[in-house]
Amino acid sequence: MSDAVILGMPTVRETRVPTRAGKQYFVRTMGCQMNEHDSERIAGLLDLDGMVPAESIETADVVVVNTCTIRENADQRLYGYLGSLKALKDVRPDMRIAVGGCSAQKERDIIRDRAAWVDVVFGTHNTHRVLDLLDHADEWGPITEVLEETTSVEMTASALPAHRATDHSAWVTITIGCNNSCTFCIVPIVRGAEISRRPGDVIREVANLAADGVTEVTLLGQNVNSYGRDLDIDGRKPLFADLLRRVGEVDGIRRIRYTSPHPKDIREDVMIAMAETQSVCEQLHLPLQSGSARILAAMHRGYTPERYMAKLAMARAIVADLTVSTDIIVGFPGETDDDFDATMDVVRAARFDSAFTFQYSPRPGTPAAEMEYTITPDVMKRRFDQLAREQDAITFQHNRERVGRTLEVMVEGPSKREPEVASTRTRGNRLVHVAGVFEPGSYLPVEITRAAPHYLEGVVSS
Ligand code: SAH
Ligand code: SF4
Ligand code: F3S
Repeated sequence: MSDAVILGMPTVRETRVPTRAGKQYFVRTMGCQMNEHDSERIAGLLDLDGMVPAESIETADVVVVNTCTIRENADQRLYGYLGSLKALKDVRPDMRIAVGGCSAQKERDIIRDRAAWVDVVFGTHNTHRVLDLLDHADEWGPITEVLEETTSVEMTASALPAHRATDHSAWVTITIGCNNSCTFCIVPIVRGAEISRRPGDVIREVANLAADGVTEVTLLGQNVNSYGRDLDIDGRKPLFADLLRRVGEVDGIRRIRYTSPHPKDIREDVMIAMAETQSVCEQLHLPLQSGSARILAAMHRGYTPERYMAKLAMARAIVADLTVSTDIIVGFPGETDDDFDATMDVVRAARFDSAFTFQYSPRPGTPAAEMEYTITPDVMKRRFDQLAREQDAITFQHNRERVGRTLEVMVEGPSKREPEVASTRTRGNRLVHVAGVFEPGSYLPVEITRAAPHYLEGVVSS
């Protein structure tokens, strides 16, 4: 198979002759929404080759593992998983295993050394080459191809066919990579410098999705507020606020979400665009990371706790009924009890609706990994548990405040535990269990009848 067959999306669609018709594939995704979305496109390419999704990994002819390396436990999970794949491959030697994503980008040689049974190792910049690389492995044996930089933003963004997880919701990439230098973070190393997609390409993709029946889109970027800084459209740099408004004009799109904004860059214009664009949901994920000015400086985040709180107040003042979630790291190098107390103070004052909390994990190659590490595992655990307890209480309180209100929800599908109960989401992205069977993707008015710590219950209101 020559490169010409693979490069360029129209070429892929038009000239790829399916070579694995009827064979089964299984894609296992680790990591964030960027990876979820990349996996949909990997699945889309495998579909294009005539393959079908496998019911289970046991019957898969091709297994693609899309990896994450954000924290050390992500790496550990990967090697555990690759070990279980070896057992399958021992029984079925024809099975092909491809490992891509962030860990592959960073640790291609380690994966090769520790898992010789992997057929293809590919990085974050050559996801679009997965079929070609599988062809190569069939013909000549194992291959590693990890590009240092992206060759085309459209190839690493969303121009490839996607096999979406749901019919009604879709991810849309607006930027890839990250130009920030948070000292704990591996993302700029594995995803490269930030590149924005042109607004016209984003809008066209959203319009195509809407034509396909999608009503909810989530715009993806590591720092959506720096969207467009690298573009020149008729002498202007497009702004994220304008992009939000334009996506809001696409017929058929009822809900727009985005992740993540960066506290140092978010400004009033984005909040005003949110408030003025009906389809943009009242939901903001604003990662705090720490409530200590000293630690924030060492993290290179570019804001103080006061500045963060001012941005949060601005957002809440402009967008009524805003749901706010955050990310917090405990145990960053040098974090003292006082620093941690400062984080707890901000958490109490900010009253986040929910928080993703992480124990700091040193990532080789990042500046923080070179900093002196002072926190014992016991202290780390104590702080982590204390923070989780505090936030859980606040989340529960927020949920209780919703009881008695009628909210619009979108049905995701039957809940995992009870098929007669639907899992649904509010515009604020709260999970609401609603008794009954409803079409996935439908919108319902629901009266909230009960609050649990991490979800709500409701009944359809007439
Ligand atoms: N671009 C996003 C973050 C993406 S990574 C942003 O800036 O908001 C998602 C989260 O993982 C981060 O917000 C951070 O809380 C956490 N994280 C990243 N690196 C980490 C590390 N080395 N140890 C622990 N948590 C980390
Ligand atoms: Fe990582 Fe910071 Fe970029 Fe987020 S903004 S991806 S935390 S470097
Ligand atoms: Fe995402 Fe993990 Fe990569 S969080 S960008 S998949 S390192």
